[in-house]
Amino acid sequence: ASLELGPYSHFMQKEIHEQPKALSDTIEAVLDNGFVPALFGEKAEALLPGVEGIKILACGTSYYAGLTAKYWIESIAGIQCDVEIASEYRYRDAWADPRHMVVTISQSGETLDTMEALKYAKHLGHTVALSICNVRESAIPRASELVFYTRAGAEIGVASTKAFSTQLVALFALAVTMGKVKGRVTAEQEAGYLDALRHLPGSVQHALNLEPQIRAWADLFAAKNDALFLGRGLHYPIALEGALKLKEISYIHAEAYPAGELKHGPLALVDENMPVVVIAPNDSLLEKVKSNMQEVRARGGELFVFADLDSHFSESEGVHVIRTPRHVGILSPMVHVIPVQILAYHVALARGTDVDKPRNLAKSVTVE
Ligand code: G6P
Repeated sequence: ASLELGPYSHFMQKEIHEQPKALSDTIEAVLDNGFVPALFGEKAEALLPGVEGIKILACGTSYYAGLTAKYWIESIAGIQCDVEIASEYRYRDAWADPRHMVVTISQSGETLDTMEALKYAKHLGHTVALSICNVRESAIPRASELVFYTRAGAEIGVASTKAFSTQLVALFALAVTMGKVKGRVTAEQEAGYLDALRHLPGSVQHALNLEPQIRAWADLFAAKNDALFLGRGLHYPIALEGALKLKEISYIHAEAYPAGELKHGPLALVDENMPVVVIAPNDSLLEKVKSNMQEVRARGGELFVFADLDSHFSESEGVHVIRTPRHVGILSPMVHVIPVQILAYHVALARGTDVDKPRNLAKSVTVE
């Protein structure tokens, strides 16, 4: 394995650092062709114009990619998008609008619950399914009319990293493509979105360079029993993903909340033993997030803030700040997931857990 790992200690660390490459490989087809239906398969040109809404089905980290996509799809494409955990959807009397496209997201393409949810959606009357998948010719894309293959390369670490960020690229491409199909995205906007994608691998590389600073934080987390992750809007799913990564590989209990919801419960948990990680890029919700942070500080909670250069945060008593690169706008989730992945990785190292094969978990869950 040491040959395959190169300079890295674990597959997870290697895969975190492969993200600029995984992203540029996945973006390539978009940069070459623009946001065109053909990105999603031969039949997409004929099928996408009939799509009036989107239903996303997935599990685990892939589900959080779906939650992020909901923000893009509703705002850029202007169509309804709902996102469901596959294992829940498959057992409820769901309402199906046949004009709504089912989008499954699965790194492996073999997750049983996601596959069964897809079959159930077809049974309920959905006629068009798109698979966003990293493994070619796996079961889920084979059962779908449309497919977008992410080009993350093989992912070995049980905790998903590069698959997630490339899924986000696929979903962003879907949102813009649907926006064009619906006549909502102008040529000028499309050029702006392409430009943003072109710069993404570079911004992700900047975020990776923060590893030494994040490692210093990890030592403070390693002794804790709990952690809380906060984000708002597009970054709430990133907070969820950060909490999931920490749980999966360090076995520290972690949960995530949209920061505005703090006052409705989790604030009761906050004291000096509860580290609170905040994803706080300079977006339209920044001032709201800042006031949520004051609520935490007032209860003695220690804040660990990931803020981009434009957020204007300074360190103070109980407030630690790491600056991610300049704000990258709508693609900011792909940049802000990097530091939470690195944090989980180094906390796990400090606790001496089996990073690539965490207890009780499997890379691909093909049983119920
Ligand atoms: C397992 C893995 C997770 C993954 C989830 C969904 O739980 O440990 O990392 O997010 O399955 O897998 P999929 O292959 O469908 O994306």
